[in-house]
Amino acid sequence: MPNFQVLATVRMTPQGAALTPEQKKELQDIAQRIVAPGKGILAADESVGSMAKRLAQIGLLFSADDRIDNCIGGVIFFHETLYQKADDGTPFINMIKDRGIVVGIKVDKGLVPIAGTNGETTSQGLDGLAERCAQYKKDGADFAKWRCVLKISDTTPSHLAITDNANVLARYANICQQNGIVPIVEPEILPDGDHDLKRCQYVTQKVLAAVYKAMADYHVYLEGTLLKPNMVTPGHSCPMKYTPEQIAMATVTALRRTVPPAVAGVTFLSGGQSEEEASVNLNAINNCHLGKPWALTFSFGRALQASALSTWRGQKENASNATEEFIKRAKVNSLASQGKYTGSGDCTGATGHSLYATHYAY
Ligand code: 13P
Repeated sequence: MPNFQVLATVRMTPQGAALTPEQKKELQDIAQRIVAPGKGILAADESVGSMAKRLAQIGLLFSADDRIDNCIGGVIFFHETLYQKADDGTPFINMIKDRGIVVGIKVDKGLVPIAGTNGETTSQGLDGLAERCAQYKKDGADFAKWRCVLKISDTTPSHLAITDNANVLARYANICQQNGIVPIVEPEILPDGDHDLKRCQYVTQKVLAAVYKAMADYHVYLEGTLLKPNMVTPGHSCPMKYTPEQIAMATVTALRRTVPPAVAGVTFLSGGQSEEEASVNLNAINNCHLGKPWALTFSFGRALQASALSTWRGQKENASNATEEFIKRAKVNSLASQGKYTGSGDCTGATGHSLYATHYAY
């Protein structure tokens, strides 16, 4: 009669170590550098119009002086921009690395429909990902981003979309870590809809619980990962209004229920909030009295660049003012990531404008 208890134990033993202690240390060090106190991420991987425009935009962000060095721990590039050079011929990668900022790369290849669902999607890009990661690592990148999207409606997110996206994120994270790349895991729940704060919290918990189950199944080394979630907010068309403290409480509660303390840091996306709203909410999150075992900081795209872009308007003569606007937002968010932002009360101009767009595409 076989001893089933022993058989079960043998089967549960890992078949091989996923990572060596040296690989683990490297991943953990990278993750911690990105989210060191007061630091967050500039997500510069959005597809803004033409290539020329995107390059010029990135150039003006990177021409910011050393005032941003204590605020920005990492920059996420697009494949094309990663290999570009500044006007004086210096590769962007070198410009960023020389200032102690970690270079990141967006590696998913966009959203694709899951047929038979109510408009739900998964993200593609796993084919050849190991080779791409190995090359990016050689070329100077130390972290990556992969974005999945989930939608809230009466019928979504479905169980299928939740599990499919969780598994794809875990597979991506497993592949990145094999190549010395820290994966940023982004299961974004869109703000589209009229759902209230409670429903967003419920869905966020379901999605994050599935993500961390999949991460455990795929042997992902959590200390060498970052999570990029949505803040828990009401839907964009929800008639009810909530305070930053209510948003903070719902967000931190959802994270505490689902995200293991081993995860190196949580870097929120801004998701169409105005610049000011995103900063004030991040600040409230950091002041929430519940225990918070992770760094809670920003990985903003729109909420770090909107003022700079509206000042710049593609005109060379506006470039230095635009750079100043970017530095201002970087400093504000650095303070917010430490719970030290007192708010500008500025709801005029780009800082107060909602940056929401339905089904925002990157
Ligand atoms: P937003 O902050 O504009 O939502 O963008 C962050 C990002 O990188 C989403 O993938």
